[in-house]
Amino acid sequence: MTAKLLVVGGGKMGSALVEGLLSSGWAPPSEVVVAEASPQRRDELAAPGGPAQRFGGLAIVGEPVPAESAVIAVKPGDAQAACRALASAGVKRVLSVAAGVTLADLAGWCQEATAVLRAMPNTAALVGASATALCAGPGASAEDIDWAKDVMRSVGKVVEVPERWMNAVTGLSGSGPAYMFVVVEAMIEAGVLVGLPREVATDLVSQTLAGCAQLLAKTGEAPAALRASVTSPGGTTAAGLRQLEARAVRSAFVEAVAAATQRASELAG
Ligand SMILES: NC(=O)c1ccc[n+]([C@@H]2O[C@H](COP(=O)([O-])OP(=O)(O)OC[C@H]3O[C@@H](n4cnc5c(N)ncnc54)[C@H](OP(=O)(O)O)[C@@H]3O)[C@@H](O)[C@H]2O)c1
Repeated sequence: MTAKLLVVGGGKMGSALVEGLLSSGWAPPSEVVVAEASPQRRDELAAPGGPAQRFGGLAIVGEPVPAESAVIAVKPGDAQAACRALASAGVKRVLSVAAGVTLADLAGWCQEATAVLRAMPNTAALVGASATALCAGPGASAEDIDWAKDVMRSVGKVVEVPERWMNAVTGLSGSGPAYMFVVVEAMIEAGVLVGLPREVATDLVSQTLAGCAQLLAKTGEAPAALRASVTSPGGTTAAGLRQLEARAVRSAFVEAVAAATQRASELAG
């Protein structure tokens, strides 16, 4: 039997994709197969409460099986072995989310005439809210690109970019959640400093971040306009922002993204 989709790697990202695709009805569970090399992880996926039980018919196997298309969600160092196994199974359309693995790598490791695509999601895929950039190899058709966008949309938003932007994407939205968590951590500590209980500070800061994300998405306003709208002349926010500017917080973010982009290009070789 040929599966509609084979997901190679049932770790965090592979499972998030399977959850997203099956809960949105993209395919019935019987047409999706997860290939996971680790027996222990296979047991977890098959355990009560795991995806195999929640989506009856979803198969969990140890080795890639024949499929129309595959997603590679293994660690970057395992991507070559995964491509080779897919080539043996005759899979002709492959989308990889392995960080730093290039389209040329994928094309070289897969069977000839395989459509290869590459995506960079972020950890918010685990809650269906990833910011994902996607690029396609020269052999991928418009239909292949639509398919890959559809797959990645099951875990969030997708933009198509040229591959030369992928290191920048990695430095910006791939690493971005870590920068945001640092901001959240710092603000919670600040709340504690000014006298709030930690749980209260945590709730307030988490909801502030969620609320800002919604304001950006729902109003369509530029962040500078939203910031100005809460900065009254001579007010409290202006006094706070003065301290952020004095400590070059914007510059710190610029340098963080530039360093992460540089590191991504070193790792991609
Ligand atoms: N998590 C993120 O936020 C994120 C964001 C962007 C990109 N990515 C990319 O997504 C990929 C997966 O990341 P992850 O966070 O999901 O890691 P993970 O939880 O460690 O998942 C990787 C899984 O693939 C399995 N695996 C390894 N080789 C295999 C093979 N040949 N056949 C079948 N299964 C195999 C691993 O099993 P073992 O443990 O036995 O090796 C593991 O369960 C990585 O390449 C990463 O760069 C992740």
